Amino acid sequence: MITVDDGCVNWFTWTPVADLGDVVRACPLLTLIPCEIKIWAIEHRFLLNYLWMPYFFSLPASGRFRVKPLELTSGIPTDLPPSTSLNDFLRNNANLKGTKYFCKEGGCGACTVSVTTMDPFSRLHVTKAVNSCLVPIYSCDGWSIKTVEGIGNKTDGYHPIQKRLADFNGTQCGYCSPGMVMNMYSLLESNPNLKMEDVERSFDGNICRCTGYRPILDAFKSFASDATPELKKKVGDIEDVLKDAVCPKTMTACQGKLEGKPCTPLTCSGPPRLPAALQLDLKSGEWIRPTSLEDVKAFLSKASGKIRFVVGNTGRGVHRDVAEGDTYIDLNQVPELFAISTSNGLSIGAGVSLTKTIETLKNVSVTETSYKYVTALAEHLGRVANVPVRNSGSVGGNLMLKHAHHEFQSDLFTIFEAVGASVVLAGPDGEKQIPLNALLCEDMNKKVIRSVSLPPLSPDIRIRTFKITPRLQNAHAYVNAAFVADVDGAEALLKGRPSIVFGGIQLKDGFEQVHAKETEEFLTGKKLTEESVVQEALAVLGGELKESKTDVEASFSYRARLAQGLLYKFILGVLGDAVPEKLRSGATNLSREISSGKQEITSDPKDYPISKPIPKIEAWNQTAGEAQYTNDIPLLPGELHAVFVLASYGRAKLKSIDASQALAMPGVAGFFSAKDIPGANDFMQGEGVEEAPQRIVGEMEFGSQHHFYLETQVCVCRPTEDGIDVFAATQWIDKVQLAVSSILNIPENSVNVVVRRCGGAYGGKITRPNQISAATALAAYKLRKPVRMALDMETNLAIIGKRTAYIVKYQAGFEDDGKLRAVKAKIYGDVGHSVNESPITFGLSMAQNCYFSPKWNYMPVAVLTNTPSNTWTRSPGTTEGIAIIEHIVEHIAFKLKKNPFEVKQVNFIKEGELDMNGSPAEPNGLPEMVEIFKKSAELEKRMSEIQAYNEANVWKKRGLSVVPMKYPCGYPPFFRFAVSVSVFHDDGTVTVSHGGCEMGQGLNTKVAQVAAKTLGVPMDKVMIRPSDSFTNANSAVTGGSMGSEMCCYGTQEACKDLLNRMQPVKAKENKDLTWVEWVAKSFNAGIDLRATYYSVGGNPDLKPYIVYGLACTEVEIDVITGEKQVLRADILEDVGVSLSPEVDIGQLEGSFVMGLGYWLQEEIKYNPRTGEHLTNRTWEYKPPLCKDIPIDFRVSFLQNSENPFGFRRSKATGEPALCMSVCSLFAVKQAVQATRNDKNITDWWNLSGPATTEKIALATPAPLCVAEMLRVLALLPLVFLPAFYPIGFFTAEKFKFDSLDGIYEPNEALKNPNIKLSEILNGPESFAMRDNDPWIYTGIAGGSIIKFHPNTFEYETVAKSQDPGCSGTWDHRCGRPLGLRFRGDKLLVADANRGLLSVNVDDGTVEILVSSSTMVEGSPLVLVNDLDVDSNGDVYFSQSSLDVPLDFGMFTLFASGSGRLLKLDAETGEVSVLLTGLYFANGVQLSKDRSFVLVADCFRGKIVRYNLNREQGSPGVVETFIEGIPGAVDNIRASGNKKGGFLVAIPFVFNPKNFNPIDSLSEYPLTRSMIARLLYMIRLPFDFITELFPNPVTGVIRSAIGGFGLNDYFTKVKHGMVVELSESGEVLRTLHTVDGNYTHISCAFPARDGKRLILGSYADKGVAFVSLKK
Ligand SMILES: Cc1cc2nc3c(=O)[nH]c(=O)nc-3n(C[C@H](O)[C@H](O)[C@H](O)COP(=O)(O)OP(=O)(O)OC[C@H]3O[C@@H](n4cnc5c(N)ncnc54)[C@H](O)[C@@H]3O)c2cc1C
Ligand code: FES
Ligand code: FES
Repeated sequence: MITVDDGCVNWFTWTPVADLGDVVRACPLLTLIPCEIKIWAIEHRFLLNYLWMPYFFSLPASGRFRVKPLELTSGIPTDLPPSTSLNDFLRNNANLKGTKYFCKEGGCGACTVSVTTMDPFSRLHVTKAVNSCLVPIYSCDGWSIKTVEGIGNKTDGYHPIQKRLADFNGTQCGYCSPGMVMNMYSLLESNPNLKMEDVERSFDGNICRCTGYRPILDAFKSFASDATPELKKKVGDIEDVLKDAVCPKTMTACQGKLEGKPCTPLTCSGPPRLPAALQLDLKSGEWIRPTSLEDVKAFLSKASGKIRFVVGNTGRGVHRDVAEGDTYIDLNQVPELFAISTSNGLSIGAGVSLTKTIETLKNVSVTETSYKYVTALAEHLGRVANVPVRNSGSVGGNLMLKHAHHEFQSDLFTIFEAVGASVVLAGPDGEKQIPLNALLCEDMNKKVIRSVSLPPLSPDIRIRTFKITPRLQNAHAYVNAAFVADVDGAEALLKGRPSIVFGGIQLKDGFEQVHAKETEEFLTGKKLTEESVVQEALAVLGGELKESKTDVEASFSYRARLAQGLLYKFILGVLGDAVPEKLRSGATNLSREISSGKQEITSDPKDYPISKPIPKIEAWNQTAGEAQYTNDIPLLPGELHAVFVLASYGRAKLKSIDASQALAMPGVAGFFSAKDIPGANDFMQGEGVEEAPQRIVGEMEFGSQHHFYLETQVCVCRPTEDGIDVFAATQWIDKVQLAVSSILNIPENSVNVVVRRCGGAYGGKITRPNQISAATALAAYKLRKPVRMALDMETNLAIIGKRTAYIVKYQAGFEDDGKLRAVKAKIYGDVGHSVNESPITFGLSMAQNCYFSPKWNYMPVAVLTNTPSNTWTRSPGTTEGIAIIEHIVEHIAFKLKKNPFEVKQVNFIKEGELDMNGSPAEPNGLPEMVEIFKKSAELEKRMSEIQAYNEANVWKKRGLSVVPMKYPCGYPPFFRFAVSVSVFHDDGTVTVSHGGCEMGQGLNTKVAQVAAKTLGVPMDKVMIRPSDSFTNANSAVTGGSMGSEMCCYGTQEACKDLLNRMQPVKAKENKDLTWVEWVAKSFNAGIDLRATYYSVGGNPDLKPYIVYGLACTEVEIDVITGEKQVLRADILEDVGVSLSPEVDIGQLEGSFVMGLGYWLQEEIKYNPRTGEHLTNRTWEYKPPLCKDIPIDFRVSFLQNSENPFGFRRSKATGEPALCMSVCSLFAVKQAVQATRNDKNITDWWNLSGPATTEKIALATPAPLCVAEMLRVLALLPLVFLPAFYPIGFFTAEKFKFDSLDGIYEPNEALKNPNIKLSEILNGPESFAMRDNDPWIYTGIAGGSIIKFHPNTFEYETVAKSQDPGCSGTWDHRCGRPLGLRFRGDKLLVADANRGLLSVNVDDGTVEILVSSSTMVEGSPLVLVNDLDVDSNGDVYFSQSSLDVPLDFGMFTLFASGSGRLLKLDAETGEVSVLLTGLYFANGVQLSKDRSFVLVADCFRGKIVRYNLNREQGSPGVVETFIEGIPGAVDNIRASGNKKGGFLVAIPFVFNPKNFNPIDSLSEYPLTRSMIARLLYMIRLPFDFITELFPNPVTGVIRSAIGGFGLNDYFTKVKHGMVVELSESGEVLRTLHTVDGNYTHISCAFPARDGKRLILGSYADKGVAFVSLKK
């Protein structure tokens, strides 16, 4: 049922029209309905929407081009809802549509306007950029506001900023441009002498999805005082440009002065003022504006209901719930809250903006010695949010967000708390000062924060703050931290207690605890130069962290690692030069220089204006906010607004719909569902490897990607006399026309679809506008009223399908030089809940790229999931296809230890060789381009520089990767575009209308160039009209980079037709005619001056061709944090002779940067249980911002290239560059590999896209293990131990290795693409399954038992180690569950560290059956390894038992060695020892008939049998079951076959020949715990150790694990395998072997279906399934 309260009704009634998305969310309707319905957009089976009557404000727009200072009494109606934003007001009341919006949460900058306000305390004027979407209109009283219309326009002239942005080609779809312009305008107003660096820093809140930012930055940097000569040259004469400026005051050309006085911003727009106190009774709340703190207190004493203080109102952008209230108290005019004082310590008013706070801190740090430290705070604050948010957002507002949501990772709170800040609170009862920390628990009802005080600190104090984020700018922290310490002398003695504060991760007491108290306590008085101090501090911190997990935040393991890493970074920084040079890079953050770009174009002056580098023809309109987008179309009287109501469950069953209460609300005009559809409700789109000398087998994974167009899906429908007019933002007019006609069941000719432009599309507006248009049309048609639907960002991102995500399993065979012999892969694509359009097969042909292989075997598999049906996304399928083969070739190169680029070149396809489709290849353009590219990109030099850099630095690494591309383009017959050209007889002007859709790709510009060239007229004679379904009927989709060429071709042919018709007139005149004369005479001769052409693919003039390209990216990573940056990117692409070089450069750069976003940072997450989309806000989803682009970005067109096949020698540019951007992923991988090389880890591993900060950090090989860190201190010499040497121990001959016959199987993890079990599974050693329970149970290091689903890979923690301080690290206090079996419903656990446990998996309780401290026959029960349960409930378990227990910290170790098999009697609870004398008794398995127990003796490589009854021999007699296994034997399990038999997991196989003997280990003294750790990891026989280390072992730790030569050891070890043994112990077959070294299999279980094996610790990754099919 739906309940609606009054507040909700008011919302509906008075909501300004553009805010309906918010209204829907605010309405309880949504929280109730969704459970019962399906998402319309997903199911396409029914239609459901609500309609409201809009409320029209009586006030007219307040100015044509500007909003004057707003007068509340005269400018703003008093009956708007208090949440009405300035953006709503500008667009809907003032009808100023130049200001755009997208996110409405401060995350995109599309809504930026410039405001000048007066500070109530200082009374100074401040000009700043603000997000109009967040500013409440009632806060604006007294402000001077400028919108993009207010600074320049077509009639009066454009502002230099508008012009410059257009001239520099900084606008494509143009949707971000007004926001960009106004941000720049505000910046220049507030800082006329700005530097290039200021520009880069100040665009941290403005997203552009099209351009790749480089031209925008160039345009704006050209205003900087330190602009480079190149930029200045490009601008030309700046003075000249300024002549075009228009004065917004007089609306005439700017004279530089006004009324005799030099211009200031204020003289141009009127000064702001301080408004008077105010109390407004609004229809849905009260708005109060006090002008003194006393007033505030007085209001508070009387106030009732929920109070919402308003300063910047930016809190709404973070947490929607903080936005609401019954009474709104606007604090912006309370001077006391804006006071800043240094008289008694530094006090900052709570209302002071973050921008002003930064400025204050910077100033005070210079003037006050005791505040020198605040420089660090100022720098940190500079990374909070973005410029417009910092300009409005206040200190108090930020702290109160933390108060309301303790989990909010407030940067202010973290850094202020670390330095000991306090807050002054004020309320009706007076004022009080409390420590900042105490604010979290303070009851803030009827209180305001008055100010924040920062204490003076010693100038020598050491302070460091960190903020690690998924994106460099405008992103909240994964973890933020601040460290403050008083450090003394060369030994780095910590005088007193340091202050260590964390945000983004919980400490022991949850989010209420922000100080790492135990770590602070531990470090007090300690010397940081002592390695043991550092080691233990990190361990103490690890123990203080509390595990927590949400579906959307980063994993706990990453955040925990980050917290420890940041402490380590701080320590490194404190120690400075005391650490070896190689390690110092760990102390610093990545530093980014000002970015720059270089572009080399091709152009042919003979062809001008075709191929002339010109800005886009709409550029000025766009930068001035004059370009009209669909949602800018003015409202018609009576127009209604439609919204979808969404389900919160994917693929849920629709039980019923009851809309009666919604329909009863005032203003709700209708509700429609599938049953209302008169027409159709369906308008969507419907071997050889083995023979090769070398082979690889692997897997890769690529995520999905939002299109992230800033103009959301939008449609306006108007019933007309003829049928219906549909204004849609679509890439495919024809399909929208069909959708509307089919849903309404009316003829196509009654549907007129008009598209002027799309504000970005990227494939997302090919078919999805059908849904929006059909729904809107239905409502309009039924109600006979105009209806508009503009999706809000969250809805848009949630319901619209995205880029297909992939998992690919591959094998490849190749020669010793890397030449491909055969490639085989299964390509699983997540198409969403239904297959509307799947690019999987589409991209397959691209998965050969530019390579030759005699055999290709790709099998595409579309996987249905519970996410929205996915759709085309820029370069769909082609991007992934190229990524697949590039990944495979990278793997081959890795295996061969060769430079990947060399292996790629070896494989280049040659002329005549057959491609995947069996067609002979044309001459390959790449080899020639490679030579050019090697030089221009300086490949050799940079590779050796990178190598040197990586050798010199442990904690920062660099990587470089080159990707070549062969991108075939064709003009298939279904590509067809109608073009119509009209010439007007009087002035000879020309109008072209084509069936393509302009969405920023420059189609209109190219068409205009072609028309001008063909007709021989100047460009300004040509105008492009919006496309529509009447003039351009039957046109195809604009996509695949082909639209431009085909529309240009059509234009050329239509123009030629016209000229042919006019030719006789010219011939007759027999003299030169001007164009206008010629046209006039033709007209007079009765010639039809209109021509059309239907440009159809397959036309002999347009033949398929290939775009070749090369791209190279160099990246740098911070190994400790996982942060990355792209240092340089080079692209060389063959674009033929560019039709419009500026446009094409923009396409290349823009698509490459979109690719960088895809491969490096854009991550989509779903709720694994409901399928709900979790990353549909700018807070969570992070497309690139301007500091994510390459610092050095060089783009070149291949010179002297001509394309004989394409249109006028040109080639397509919209998509190919995106395909090459995968080089960024490989470059990151190279950088990570460099850290692995440092540790001699040489096995192949997979880095899936996107390589987020989290993923990069987790891919580095446990760099932050405590011991590793110790090496940095270097106070003691590093010690490297040679490899261990097991002598004559194994007899490999007995085993014949089978060929690999278990093949990888899809694990269906795609159903929940965000679940990465490998991230949480830390070496599972055993699995258990329960009858009638689909889950599989396993244990993870740290003691937790988890269960995971074998198909979906969802997982849940079942029980946790109950020992305090367990953080999942190796720690003797933690449990280590090694063996698991069910006894009834209880899960029994053999816990190496804690004994034998019984876990109730349903409620998580744990009972200790036998504690590890229990003494059995004189020795304790430690190192319990495995168990099995017989039918009586007796437990047989194994233990590496101890004769001489020694405390080695993590384990107790024995010197002589005596593993045991024990039994726990179910009835008596007694433990008896059945068998002793094993080395390392690992796996335990009862035979099928329970007549004997097998025990795997790990390091003897044998399995022994202990007989239980007479049938199998004498009870109690021990027999060898099998021996001579050439490796460790970890785990043995029943095979699950009817026949009986067993599976044995062999973690790794030793190759004795390769072991190096060691002279003596005794010269390397070690601590006992280190030995134990080492022993455990490499599992050497204990008697061997006994020889070397006579008991007891003592010594001082001198080294870390890395220094033990452990990795050397592992390189001598072969892969692990699983063998099947018969019931009598014969080896039947090898079921599976692992490819690569340093991988091991710790356990193998038959899956329930009998067709698969479940492997644990597979390739160090967690879990894998192996099919036994073959
Ligand atoms: C896009 C975006 C990115 C952001 N990124 C970050 C980030 O990286 N790190 C970070 O720390 N923060 C971040 N923030 C949060 C931002 O700093 C805060 O939104 C801002 O400081 C809040 O100030 P405000 O004046 O706008 O508060 P408002 O939105 O006006 O108020 C917020 C809350 O505080 C209360 N309040 C305001 N002033 C007082 C007072 N004096 N006394 C008592 N209660 C008061 C209000 O009642 C309300 O509940 C981000 C915000 C946005 C929108
Ligand atoms: S719409 Fe205001 S910042 Fe995005
Ligand atoms: S031009 Fe910036 S978003 Fe399209």
